Amino acid sequence: MFKTMVMDLLNIRYPLVGGTLMHLSDAEFTAAISNAGGLGVLASAIYRNREEFGNALDRLRQLTDRPFAVNLNLFPMMRPIDNNDYLDVLLDKGVKIVETSGHSAPEALCVRFKEAGLTWIHKCVGIRYALKVQKMGADVVTVVGYENGGATGKLDVGTLVLVPRAVESLDVPVIGGGGVSDGRGIAALLALGAQGVIVGTRLLATKEAPLHDNVKQALLNASELDTMLVMRTIGSTHRVWKNAAAEKCAALESDHAELPEILNVVAGEKAKRMYHEGDVDLGIMSCGQGIGMVHDIPTVKDLFDRMMAQASDVVSGLAVHC
Ligand SMILES: Cc1cc2nc3c(=O)[nH]c(=O)nc-3n(C[C@H](O)[C@H](O)[C@H](O)COP(=O)(O)O)c2cc1C
Repeated sequence: MFKTMVMDLLNIRYPLVGGTLMHLSDAEFTAAISNAGGLGVLASAIYRNREEFGNALDRLRQLTDRPFAVNLNLFPMMRPIDNNDYLDVLLDKGVKIVETSGHSAPEALCVRFKEAGLTWIHKCVGIRYALKVQKMGADVVTVVGYENGGATGKLDVGTLVLVPRAVESLDVPVIGGGGVSDGRGIAALLALGAQGVIVGTRLLATKEAPLHDNVKQALLNASELDTMLVMRTIGSTHRVWKNAAAEKCAALESDHAELPEILNVVAGEKAKRMYHEGDVDLGIMSCGQGIGMVHDIPTVKDLFDRMMAQASDVVSGLAVHC
């Protein structure tokens, strides 16, 4: 029923993009998303060196013949990253689509994207950032509203306003997101003019998500009130799941604790252990308000099929009632 510019450009069956999920978007999970009809996005920052990253790309190619993208991380990291290294490897492996996201526009990298003929998607949270990357040559811009899981930036514009503002301000196609957990959200964002929809938080509660079952079960019990913002005082606002680690981070921030103390709580290593070992209070996990609409743990394919069927029903229902 739906045919959008982003589906054509990326050669995907559904107008759905799987959000890059740090420590989770590995080859297997990315392939599950691409095989389910969306665009899977591999998180390059998970991999510590060229060899590991190259192996992950080889594995991904074995697991899917559908299009996928690679995310290059522009957020400040405790472990410094040279994205030129990742770019060398992904070009060598014939990757065609790259997504960038983070605190800055990829001024140095974008020349290489263009020379290599990559399709470049940039994800951001505000119109001024979107206009900047469009000028730099981005082929598609993703905007995510304030309710989204992960980095929210400092502009705090909700999805319902950000997406139509991006659509009216940009010439390139827009992927919208922030709070999309079912087909109603897809229909709403397409109605706002988005040509694609990014889904992050909803994918945490899927069979293929490489997360301990304790964490998935805890997420099923969470409501839209169970997220909070952390790290705003250190210039890195994230919307995360409200657990003991998040509350601890917020308390340290309000006590004006030293940076190393805060970084110790938000350390990626702790999140990784939580994901694998299932101690649900150990680390910080990005999570959007859309968690309130998550009630089961389907496969990614069943989820996407269901979401798209619901989006079609919603659109037909609107037509009947008009
Ligand atoms: C657990 C988790 C980890 C994330 N990690 C990243 C990341 O490393 N890089 C990034 O650009 N976005 C990251 N995000 C944001 C998603 O890619 C996506 O933009 C966002 O989840 C969409 O909003 P939603 O969560 O409301 O669906 C993360 C989100 C979650 C829930």
